[in-house]
Amino acid sequence: MKLKIAVLPGDGIGPEISEQGVAVMNAVCEKFGHEVSYQYALCGADAIDKVGDPFPEETFKVCMDADAVLFSAVGDPKFDNDPTAKVRPEQGLLAMRKKLGLFANIRPVETFDCLIHKSPLKDELVRGADFICIRELTGGMYFGEKYQDDEKAYDTNAYTRPEIERILKVAYEYAMRRRKHLTVVDKANVLASSRLWRQVAKEMAPQYPEVETDYMFVDNAAMRMIQDPKFFDVMVTENTFGDILTDEGSCITGSMGLLPSASTGEHTPVFEPIHGSWPQAKGLNIANPLAQILSVAMLFEYFNLKEEGALIRKAVNASLDANVRTPEIQVEGGERYGTTEVGQWIVDYIKKA
Ligand code: IPM
Ligand code: MN
Repeated sequence: MKLKIAVLPGDGIGPEISEQGVAVMNAVCEKFGHEVSYQYALCGADAIDKVGDPFPEETFKVCMDADAVLFSAVGDPKFDNDPTAKVRPEQGLLAMRKKLGLFANIRPVETFDCLIHKSPLKDELVRGADFICIRELTGGMYFGEKYQDDEKAYDTNAYTRPEIERILKVAYEYAMRRRKHLTVVDKANVLASSRLWRQVAKEMAPQYPEVETDYMFVDNAAMRMIQDPKFFDVMVTENTFGDILTDEGSCITGSMGLLPSASTGEHTPVFEPIHGSWPQAKGLNIANPLAQILSVAMLFEYFNLKEEGALIRKAVNASLDANVRTPEIQVEGGERYGTTEVGQWIVDYIKKA
């Protein structure tokens, strides 16, 4: 297969983990005989500094022209601490989502046995938890009408039927490929937008008779994720609820630094780690590249290249088992490995496989 990849390294540790993602991608393509080419483009604070826009038109063109985007991270404290800043790196992320029509954000919540002890939950509660959160990504409060003056402010949580239908369709398709259990998360006891979500879901459910659909209020879902994360298989929800629940989901596994994600929709899909740009670690060669490397696995799987994805997952598990780990998950007394060493170990494993 021929693959044209747009690479957006972004800020902080972004460029370092991006390099390892690309190295793994090259190794896999070489092994399986795929032809891959890369086009690098600016985004985030880096793009603001260089061209004054966190998602420049040129970057948009590069993304549109590619088969997939390999994204790393954006964000820089100099903007977080400046409330007067007119442009922010995060706006680049939102612009990318909107312009590429990335309405479905797929965030797997899975555990790695060797990291269970890092979970804030009891071992028996979290071991074996494995679900996917599907977050609607281009609607709701993030993009609805906004107003702000010194006395009053609001954000509008608007959703249309087609927006709800298309994300539910994605969720049902995932559920069909998994354990056939879908939980629709909303706040239908209070919000009109949630009532429309629930109405549309109830209309669609009979089209998927094999899937057990249940409906859960978001407050209850937040609690259930902690009390009984194994209850969930596929969860689908609106933008804001999904933002909050996926942070909760990633942290209960103890493996936040290892979780990748995919955003798909109308145009080029984007694959990225769930974690942020960790500016304090920039240049120190300590950032864990595994979430980025696993986003490369998700990229291959998106194109139905299952063996390629499986080999990356196998290599990642082998690196963890061999204790080739970055400092934050290193077992005491183990050898020190940095970002590049972990990446290189995985590349070598793939070459030898
Ligand atoms: C995420 C992030 C973004 C979001 C921010 C950086 C705008 O938290 O991808 O979850 O809230 O969507
Ligand atoms: Mn978030």
